[in-house]
Amino acid sequence: MENLVEEVTANMSRLNELLQQAGNIGRNEDGSITRLGFSEKYFQALEFLKGRMQELGMQVETDPVGNLHGVLQGSDPEAKSIVIGSHMDTVMQGGVYDGMLGVTGALEVAARLKDEGRTLRHPLEIWGFNMEESSILGGTFGSRCVTGMLDPDIPGYAEKLAKFGCSPEKAKAAKRDISKYECYLEYHIEQGDKLDHTGLDVGVVSGIVSIIDYKVTAKGMSNHAGTTMMANRKDALVGMAKLIVAAEERAKELNDTLVFTVGKISVSPGQENVIPGQVVANFEMRHMDKAVTDQFYADIQALAKEIPNCEFEFVNTSAKYSTPCDPRLIKLIDEVCTEKGISHIIMPSGAGHDANSMAHEGVPIGMIFVPSVKGISHQGDEYTKPEHIDMGADVLYHTVLKLDENGF
Ligand code: GLV
Ligand code: MN
Ligand code: MN
Repeated sequence: MENLVEEVTANMSRLNELLQQAGNIGRNEDGSITRLGFSEKYFQALEFLKGRMQELGMQVETDPVGNLHGVLQGSDPEAKSIVIGSHMDTVMQGGVYDGMLGVTGALEVAARLKDEGRTLRHPLEIWGFNMEESSILGGTFGSRCVTGMLDPDIPGYAEKLAKFGCSPEKAKAAKRDISKYECYLEYHIEQGDKLDHTGLDVGVVSGIVSIIDYKVTAKGMSNHAGTTMMANRKDALVGMAKLIVAAEERAKELNDTLVFTVGKISVSPGQENVIPGQVVANFEMRHMDKAVTDQFYADIQALAKEIPNCEFEFVNTSAKYSTPCDPRLIKLIDEVCTEKGISHIIMPSGAGHDANSMAHEGVPIGMIFVPSVKGISHQGDEYTKPEHIDMGADVLYHTVLKLDENGF
């Protein structure tokens, strides 16, 4: 792994320093970060940022599902809240910037308001969400609890929640009255290579891609690895491998921006001298257009029927459909960038975000991206230059000021 880890230094900006301090929590020996939702490291980061929020004079609490929430009161009791946030968990062996940039960037907004002695007309609410990354709870967990998008009463979900010391009651208690939200802004690294390759400084996000997940089970027959001749096998792993390769080919043919990933697979019974009788894999597909993922799923099912000696079963485990960002917020962020002479582009997000949960429940969303060097993310080499960190936060700050003064 290349060593792109930033040391906290005296000449670092306040935001870069805070980001490195908070983002470092969960550092692994190989330099990557593992701070899974609900873990000890996650709550260590939460407590650290909670302290910072308190120093900034915010009313702060940890909600029933482990989200961090802070409020800076505004001067107009009638005004709805301007809400900013992102997530504080990482994937396994992830990086410093994914999620944590948005939470520390939101704190920088509050810190600048304090420096400049400004009180906004609107309340400013900051969320640090729990378990945005994929998990058995389905990803964007904390924000879906807050918006009420998550239904914790679906069969089997209570058992999953219990694994994290959580419950349907807590998930329901975390729901907020989001009709009091004026809008939600999320500041994030791009996680792809468009900005880095084109040399542009900021991405103004047009919308967030759909993420659809299926649990795919291949059923064959386990048997003795020495005595079962090749012609007589029903090897579920071989069947699954064929399906994955065929689906990958089909994804490439079907659409340029369709992506397909099998990131998790389990083989049963899982012993060297036993032919695999059952394999379970997670098929994840992403595209902006539902028609494309629907077509791809139908094609995968047809491909599965062609594979010999194996039966396949498909269960949809998660479907987060794409959502556009609010055109007024896109325009506003675009204007802020233009006024500041920042090179920028309006672009879609191939990654999922907590903003998706807000948008699906009717809150207008806007997102600001800064470049990910070499487009690397969800691993330890994830890196964004300090000057981009500060630039994106400045765009966020001025977007908040404009929203507060003129609305959108
Ligand atoms: C979240 O990072 C996702 O896009 O899966
Ligand atoms: Mn993220
Ligand atoms: Mn992520």
